[in-house]
Amino acid sequence: MSSFYEDRIFPVILDVALRKLAPDRQRVVNNLRGKVLEIGVGTGANLPHYHPDVEVVGIEPGAAMLSKAQQRADRLTKERSTKAPVPKVTLQQASAEALPFADQSFDQVLMFLVLCTIPDSRRAVAEAVRVLKPGGEMHFFEHVRSPDAGVALWQDRINPLWRKFACGCHLNRLTHGLLKEHGLQVVMHEQGYHPAMGLKVASYVVQGVATKPAG
Ligand SMILES: C[S@@+](CC[C@H](N)C(=O)[O-])C[C@H]1O[C@@H](n2cnc3c(N)ncnc32)[C@H](O)[C@@H]1O
Repeated sequence: MSSFYEDRIFPVILDVALRKLAPDRQRVVNNLRGKVLEIGVGTGANLPHYHPDVEVVGIEPGAAMLSKAQQRADRLTKERSTKAPVPKVTLQQASAEALPFADQSFDQVLMFLVLCTIPDSRRAVAEAVRVLKPGGEMHFFEHVRSPDAGVALWQDRINPLWRKFACGCHLNRLTHGLLKEHGLQVVMHEQGYHPAMGLKVASYVVQGVATKPAG
């Protein structure tokens, strides 16, 4: 059962802490096309950045987060539909480790700061690969274990406390290694400490595209 902190306080902290990532969200999300699955939509911070031609399906296990995301989606439809077209957005309560979708049903998958938090991130990647069409793309923006030994040591030390404060988020996961393990062809667009993500222990970001082989 979720707590008051998880339902009421953490979503607000998340929105405030990640506010400066709007340009990154725009850059990553506005490029997506076709039928897109967003894993762990949180409060829906990526929703305003989708191209109107996209069909978005978002999943999120947390009921409080999902309700905030739905409110944001409804607001966007209301505000924009008179002025400009909006993408079709469907949000659903589900976990990345057991996606309620058929094999090969999405053109693209978005993982934006979620593989740090999903309890079984290996299973989540396997599920994302399953629902992607051959040649489909997983777009990712994730904070990961630093390649600098000194920073990584602090990530390991702080991780147990951080996980409690940040609702399950790990500072020290090697997410990009996980993508390669599942046979995806990974093209890294950027990696390094992100100036808008604050502390060095939480700001080593990898961003890129992992493609499912076509055949
Ligand atoms: C750091 S937040 C990021 C939220 C959002 N993607 C964003 O960019 O603002 C991590 C998200 O992963 C979600 N999450 C946790 N466990 C999950 C799971 N098993 N499957 C899918 N999402 C999960 C959390 O509920 C939370 O919304």
